[in-house]
Order: sequence, then structure tokens, then C-alpha cells
Amino acid sequence: MADPPLAGTDISSHLAYAGEAKTQCGVYVHWPFCLSKCPYCDFNSHVRRAPIDEQRFVRAFAAEIASTAARVPGRTVSTIFFGGGTPSLMQPAAVSAILDSIARHWSVAPDAEVTLEANPTSVEAARFRGYRLAGVNRVSLGVQALDDRVLAELGRLHSAREAIEAMRIAQNAFERTSFDLIYARPQQTPKDWEKELRRALAEAGEHLSLYQLTVEPETPFAALHAAGKLKTPDDDAARALYDTTQDVCAAYGLPAYEISNHAQPGAECRHNLVYWRAHEYAGIGPGAHGRLDIDGDRHATATEKSPEAWLTRVESAGHGRITDDVLTREEMADEFLLMGLRLAEGIDPARYAALAGRPLDAARIATLQENGFVEMTCAGRLRVSMPGFPVLDAVVADLAA
Ligand SMILES: C[S@@+](CC[C@H](N)C(=O)[O-])C[C@H]1O[C@@H](n2cnc3c(N)ncnc32)[C@H](O)[C@@H]1O
Ligand code: SF4
Repeated sequence: MADPPLAGTDISSHLAYAGEAKTQCGVYVHWPFCLSKCPYCDFNSHVRRAPIDEQRFVRAFAAEIASTAARVPGRTVSTIFFGGGTPSLMQPAAVSAILDSIARHWSVAPDAEVTLEANPTSVEAARFRGYRLAGVNRVSLGVQALDDRVLAELGRLHSAREAIEAMRIAQNAFERTSFDLIYARPQQTPKDWEKELRRALAEAGEHLSLYQLTVEPETPFAALHAAGKLKTPDDDAARALYDTTQDVCAAYGLPAYEISNHAQPGAECRHNLVYWRAHEYAGIGPGAHGRLDIDGDRHATATEKSPEAWLTRVESAGHGRITDDVLTREEMADEFLLMGLRLAEGIDPARYAALAGRPLDAARIATLQENGFVEMTCAGRLRVSMPGFPVLDAVVADLAA
């Protein structure tokens, strides 16, 4: 069972980021609307028949930014991420207004990374220059596949050709780009995947996110899967696809720095590193999560998920927050382990010990090491090894037990 928060004990020293240059602070902004709902997706994304009152949402985002900044004043924001949903459905003026609100309430680092997730349709690509002028300097495109038949099965509204065109437009408009592909799809063989991945890498810039298809509960894909109409690769096939991914990306100079993310060294997504390194971030918008350090405690926050309910809540209360839990030391330590071991760089065991109030179990580490699932680096960091990544959940559960 988790420890209760230690009454009257300031644990801010345990939140200190031992071994890392400096505490980073990120802001996540959630735009919850899409043109259509993809059958595999369980993100907080909604399709609306009526036009969205963007101005009203922008005012609500501004109010929630102001109320969050009042709780955690004086931060220097190093990363901002517009996620969704489909943020590339927003007008550039809306993105610009939200960025202005963030800059009004916190200071934004001169070299801040500002990412926007975009779907690669031509309509959205036409807005890229506007986003750049608004202050976005990195775009993450949801390409998903480079095969029109597969894109149709995934319920996507774009073709492979349109996706490649959008990538090129993005590469001209932004200093930094990334794109997402989903693999381990029904009937996909390592040979097919290698061909598709090589084609993707030929177009890629500095960063790629490569996700294994997850059949999420209560999605149309889950219903098809349960009816035996959607067959995902078994463990061995998924493992072969994973190995192909690692080999091909490494050969192209984009090794994995996280279980699903590949980048040229130095081109990692700094915003996602904020999560994985357990730094501080504010979650703004419907269903957004945050981790805020207030008076020496770490708060786990979450807002109302339904876009309309969030809007009315913000309009009446000034924020859409419905969860604000102070994490116990045990919870912080577990989260640190869970997030940090996704990274190729691994974790600093001393930071774990400072958070948990006890070190990791040396005997468990030794057994996992003997089995080849984890390794200690010369700098004393604990990291998951290549054979350990496909069984990451089990490794984390073992270490956290
Ligand atoms: C917030 S979503 C999508 C952003 C954008 N709306 C899009 O569709 O391109 C971020 C990424 O999660 C991945 N994703 C979503 N659902 C998934 C699933 N069930 N399995 C694997 N990857 C998934 C997709 O690659 C997607 O681009
Ligand atoms: S994958 Fe992207 S476009 Fe599709 S429903 Fe999810 S958030 Fe919307």
C-alpha cells in the first residue's frame, strides 16, 4: 500500500532533479475535436456537427492558464505542446492567442520548444505557415501509414501521397518536425514493415514516433477484435516487428531514445522528456493532466473531460480542474520509475531513493541484470536493455514491488 503524505514534511528536496541540469516546466494544451473519430483511438477527442465556437474556447483556455499560473507562479516555461484531438483544426490566430496567454502569466524561455500535433490533410497543411508565425516551431504529424488501403482501414481522412506532401510542407515551414506511424497492424509482416519504414525514413527529418497498434477497450477496433475480425500480431510477430523497427531506425541514425520514439541525438522531443523525466507540467484544456509542485508537494491534476462541461466549468469557476491529488512519496517514486524506464537513458537510482525514502531492491536488480533485462551504465544509471523493452511493464512491476 502507498505511504500517506508525510504531514508537515516538506519533500521539496526529494523533487529536486538530481543529476539533471535543470528543472524543466512544460505546458500541455488539449484541443479535443477531430473531423472524424478513428476506430482505434481512445484519446479525449470528439466530433461535433455544429461549428466549434473557437473564440469561446480561447477565452476559456486563457482563464485556465491564468488560474493555473496563480497556483504555480514564477515558472520559466521551456516547452509547450498543443495535443489532441486535432489541434491543426484550430485557426492560427487561436494558437497565437493561447501562446500570448501563456507568455502573459509565466516567462517563456527564449529557446522554448513549441509543438503542435497536426493531421496531414491538405487543409491543415495550408495553415502551417500561420502556426509558424504564431510561434510554433515544431510540428508532429499523424501519418500512421504509407499505404492507402491501410489508411482507409484505420479510418484516416488522408492518403499516403497527401501525408508525404504535408510532411514536405511541414519541413519547409518548421525548424523541427516529427511524424507518427502505427505498426504491428493486422497481417503486417516484418518485410512489409521494413519497406514502409524505410520509405518513411527517407522522408523523415530528425524525429519519428512509432507506436505498436494497441486495441483500446470500447473502441470499434476492440469490438472487431472481440468478434475475431481484427487479428493483431501475436507476441512473437510483434517482437519481430519491434526488432525490425530498432534495427532499421538505428541504421538511419534515429535510434530509440524512448520505447516508441526515435530521434537523431539532440532532436528528442523536449516536451515528452518533461513527462518521462518526471519534471513539472501544467495541463490546460478538457481532460488535460498536470503535475505541479506546490509548497513542497507534487500535485496530480486533471480537468473535466467533456469539452462542453469543461467550458461551462471554466466560465463559472475559472478553471476546469476536477482532480487535485497530493502524491505520496511511494506514488511519486512509482511514477518516476514507470516513466523513466521508458527512456534509453534510464533513471538515476539516487533520485528514486530520495523520492521513495528507500533504495531500489538490489537483489531484484541483480536478478533482472542476470536475465539481461536491465543494465547499469558507467554513470551509475539503471536502464532497461534491448531485450527488456518488449517486457517493460513486467520489469517495472518487478522493480516497484
Ligand atoms: C493524440 S493522437 C493523434 C494526433 C492527431 N489527431 C492524429 O491523429 O494524427 C497521437 C498519436 O497516437 C497514436 N495512437 C493513437 N491511438 C493509438 C492506438 N490505439 N495504438 C497505437 N497508436 C495510437 C497515433 O499514432 C497518433 O498519431
Ligand atoms: S487518432 Fe487523431 S484524428 Fe483520429 S480520432 Fe484520435 S485524435 Fe482524432
